[in-house]
Amino acid sequence: MAAASLESLNIRSVKELDLQNRRVLLRCDFNTPLDADGEVADDTRIVAALPTIRYVQEQGGRVICCSHLGRPKGKRDAAFSLEPVAHRLAELLEQEVLLPDDCVGDAAEHLIANQRSNQVVLLENLRFHAGEKANSEDFARKLADNCDVYVNDAFGALHREHASVSALPKMMPDRAAGLLIERELAFLGELATGAASPYIAVVGGAKISGKIEVLEKLLDTVDGLIIGGAMANTFLVANGHDMGGSLVEADRVPIARHLLKRFAAKGVPVWLPTDVLCVEEIAPEAKVETRAVGDLRPGQKAVDIGPDTVALFTGVVDGSAPSAPGLPKSVFWNGPMGIFEMDAFANGTMAMARALARSTARSIIGGGDSGAAVKKAGVSDLVTHVSTGGGASLEYLSGNVLPGLVALRGGRR
Ligand code: 3PG
Repeated sequence: MAAASLESLNIRSVKELDLQNRRVLLRCDFNTPLDADGEVADDTRIVAALPTIRYVQEQGGRVICCSHLGRPKGKRDAAFSLEPVAHRLAELLEQEVLLPDDCVGDAAEHLIANQRSNQVVLLENLRFHAGEKANSEDFARKLADNCDVYVNDAFGALHREHASVSALPKMMPDRAAGLLIERELAFLGELATGAASPYIAVVGGAKISGKIEVLEKLLDTVDGLIIGGAMANTFLVANGHDMGGSLVEADRVPIARHLLKRFAAKGVPVWLPTDVLCVEEIAPEAKVETRAVGDLRPGQKAVDIGPDTVALFTGVVDGSAPSAPGLPKSVFWNGPMGIFEMDAFANGTMAMARALARSTARSIIGGGDSGAAVKKAGVSDLVTHVSTGGGASLEYLSGNVLPGLVALRGGRR
């Protein structure tokens, strides 16, 4: 699924629907991190939903938002209530946000029936019902009973075959994608179908598992691949280096070796760390040492890329490294270069974020940790696009079918 426009996917935009006086169920991805006090720690995904909410209201529709938060195992769990999201949404919209204590049933029905046009209803966590993850038709039908129109703007959840994403839209003749999904597909579709060359991908994070498909796909589209973060350890072991006590996926070494061979055979350069920051124990105050890869003491763990690697990787991004295929015109980044949540190990990730911010290339950042990293570096506004979907953006770029997009196809014309 590589096409970028909704039209080519046979999906209508919310702009094509008649919304006047209609109850619009808006599937959002309000799966936001919460801080120790239970407040929203990062409101990026809530802010990203505002344009569609405002648009629906401007068109005379009544907005009923729904979302999951966390993984509450199919039953009510106060720790996963959407209450903090309701507070933040109310602040951002400067409107009353009503939160019934369940997403279906009498309380939700009553609030929706009495909802005023300048109020938003936010249904409680969909995953308090096992039917959500089970893609249950019965559960979807209960959600459908309380609305006239379905709009999906939960880009980050499109890869989940869950009731509110898959079964529900199929039973709603008036269904469409929201403005956020349209925007995400435009930017990510650009990478999938024809990124301006030279196109460099930067991939990091803890594990190769879950990224093999996207790496295989990148082989067909990129002009160079940078691999950092703990996942680089597995590739370094595949190249014959001893990585001490670092995180290595031993069972993935053969596939890492195979991928490196395929990139080499195609003549696409792959840059791996040449040095790393190491600690004996992973802790914020740990004593840090810089070691060349392959020169770690037994038990030493790599926690960030080292200074030579920072120079190499940022040199590829700004086109100055001798091995770079010129000044990149497109860069995609997914996954941090180290354990950036701890300041002592954040240098490589912050340097990469700043390099992308300085770059003249179109810079597309996958969601999740990389989105948090550009935010931590204070450069979110200096990159071309930060996706709100971590898993979803990788699945999309892997060419996989996204159940949430499939379910939106067709509908009443
Ligand atoms: C995400 O945060 O990637 C989406 O909200 C999906 O959440 P999930 O991985 O719990 O399904």
